[in-house]
Amino acid sequence: MLPLKTAAVLCLLTLVGFAARASDDIVIADFEGGDYGQWKATGDAFGTGPAQGTLPGQMAVTGFAGHGLVNSFHHGDTGVGTLTSPAFKIERNYIRFLIGGGKNPETTALHLLVDGKVVRTATGPNNQAGGSEQLGPDGWLVSDLVGKTAVLQIVDQATGGWGHINVDDIVQSDQRPKGLLSPGKRTIRVTQRFLNLPIKDGGAHRKVTISLVPESGKDHLDLQQASALKGTPDFLPVINDVELADGTPDWWAPIDVSRYQGQLLSVEVDKLPEGSTALSSMESGDKPKGQENLYQESLRNQFHFSPQRGWNNDPNGMVFYRGEYHLFFQHNPYGWNWGNMHWGHAVSRDLVRWTELGDVLYPDKFGPMFSGSAVVDWANTSGFGKPGNPAQVLLYTAAGDPTVQCLAYSTDGRHYFKYDKNPVVPQFTGGNRDPKVLWHEPSKKWVMTLFVETNHLNTIHFLSSPNLKDWTLMSTVDGFFECPDFFELPIDGNSANKKWVLTAASSEYMVGTFDGTRFTPETAKLKGHLGRGFYAAQTFSDIPAKDGRRIQIGWFQTETKGMAFNQGMTVPLELKLTATTDGPRLTWTPVRELEKLRGKSQKISARTLQPGDANPIAASESDTREIRAEIEPGAGSEVTFNIRGAAIVYNASKQELTVNGQSAPAPLRAGKLRLTVLSDRAGLEVFAGDGLTYIPMPYISKADDHRLELKVAGGSAKIVSLKVYNLNSIWK
Ligand code: FRU
Repeated sequence: MLPLKTAAVLCLLTLVGFAARASDDIVIADFEGGDYGQWKATGDAFGTGPAQGTLPGQMAVTGFAGHGLVNSFHHGDTGVGTLTSPAFKIERNYIRFLIGGGKNPETTALHLLVDGKVVRTATGPNNQAGGSEQLGPDGWLVSDLVGKTAVLQIVDQATGGWGHINVDDIVQSDQRPKGLLSPGKRTIRVTQRFLNLPIKDGGAHRKVTISLVPESGKDHLDLQQASALKGTPDFLPVINDVELADGTPDWWAPIDVSRYQGQLLSVEVDKLPEGSTALSSMESGDKPKGQENLYQESLRNQFHFSPQRGWNNDPNGMVFYRGEYHLFFQHNPYGWNWGNMHWGHAVSRDLVRWTELGDVLYPDKFGPMFSGSAVVDWANTSGFGKPGNPAQVLLYTAAGDPTVQCLAYSTDGRHYFKYDKNPVVPQFTGGNRDPKVLWHEPSKKWVMTLFVETNHLNTIHFLSSPNLKDWTLMSTVDGFFECPDFFELPIDGNSANKKWVLTAASSEYMVGTFDGTRFTPETAKLKGHLGRGFYAAQTFSDIPAKDGRRIQIGWFQTETKGMAFNQGMTVPLELKLTATTDGPRLTWTPVRELEKLRGKSQKISARTLQPGDANPIAASESDTREIRAEIEPGAGSEVTFNIRGAAIVYNASKQELTVNGQSAPAPLRAGKLRLTVLSDRAGLEVFAGDGLTYIPMPYISKADDHRLELKVAGGSAKIVSLKVYNLNSIWK
């Protein structure tokens, strides 16, 4: 059977009198027939022949040629199978096609196989909800394979969302196809400290491979060897997901290559469109490129930590060590979105000013570096420390297949070494992660809480170890998802009455007892913070006993569009347990160290405000503020602070606090509302009821609106005290 489209092309060629030339296109398949011809289908996804466009239950399929196409939606997304071409000879420099559907190179893909091995792969564009069923042009450069016998295979092994693939019009050609991506390579001599990669926010993910070019008369260390020798690799030879800019970049991602001074590096990119300037624009420099404005960017929070470049999520490895607070974090150095998980690293001497030091854990053969914790091994149970110099030990998840728990250590808080016998905890299930470790003094052992998803049940597994290396399962508790934390706190400061708190990513928690083996909850699961955009918090380990505070930092989901960074952290929060009539409850308050950021202040004298009264606070130009207020709202009154476009409203009848539309109970305490508001460029944190009500709220303050306004409605309110401070930047 001569496929229709081919017939038409041949017919046209004959009509206009073209002689067949070597460079004429060869149609491999146009899927215009009633069946697949010599192509062989397995499974049920591909039906018995080409689809005539959209299949039942599918969004409109467009962008294919003619009437028919391969569409593996014959049984919706649940169908699976393969469709394999007869063998053919590669006779042109390119193979082009139209492709759409799911984007998974393993489960929804078109493969080219030579000698039974996959040599090229293409997928559709969709890997998240939404998207489009439009097929687009794509292709491969195959000049290196001309003369070889090949087979094409279309696979659909995916059953979830976008679990199908659409393909049409596969043609051999000597014309470079539209949309073709080809690999590129260049060499760069290291003369300066950084190699700057051009990044486009949300750009296509490219694989960048960096290697040393052997040169005669020079010593060559394999990059991994060089890293292992000195601790803390300063970059990764293969970076899988770089949001690489093909044209003008949004920002530059610096890679520290100083270790390779004088050497020649080869930089390869797996896929580049024609005309891409990604490789040619890569620059070495003595500074990260484009940092002139660092920490002054319009949406940079001024007293909340955020990384210089790229994406962050969870805080990790929080520990006090050798006089410094260490804050590690889930970091994507090469993109504005989640991906490529490294551990970023920052330190502070006062919990206020942070110095970012560069990434310490790079993805490796065990997978990307997911969340985890850190402890100081005072008794040197691990053997990583030296007398008088205990090691700081990191426990983290390597999220490969299997997903395992690993260990790294440092004896100076600057250089980090991965343990050579990793992993230390094998996989329980694929959904196990986020080890949080503590020293349990009564039983003289290490205790790890680990999130483990079992049969769709969220559990926290409790493990123990004598040395941080050998772990044994002790018990489990149901009901918590991701990023557990576990610590003991006195109730109302009474050290004779301590309770254990088990909490996790959502900030919900249970209070109970712990006998060294098993946690016994004494409360139901309780709500933690009452706002939005606060997730995966953890608390510092090893704060000296004479200080004794339990200090938490959460991932503050402050989305900063158009910036070279995205997301951030909350301020450090002191956690306490307090007795209430309902039982013990956690309270959150900003750490007192933040007071040293206070600049210009305004004190409003005690007064009673009536509805319609003028705003008592004089406007002052500042985009960072702290408000401390004590108010006795009269019956039926509503007290509103307007701060740079955000509304914070206290409703006395409901005894409810609303921050930008998000309401939470905030009962008056002895008739009073004690309110603390921290307002930064990209987020607000509001505290009431002595910390029983904590409302974090990502919020982009209006750029030209510096207003701060107080008003009442519905009844009067007595302002007992009110102070407003402008806060200084932690970055100066
Ligand atoms: C929580 C989380 C963790 C995981 C990490 C990966 O936000 O999903 O469970 O370790 O992020 O970045």
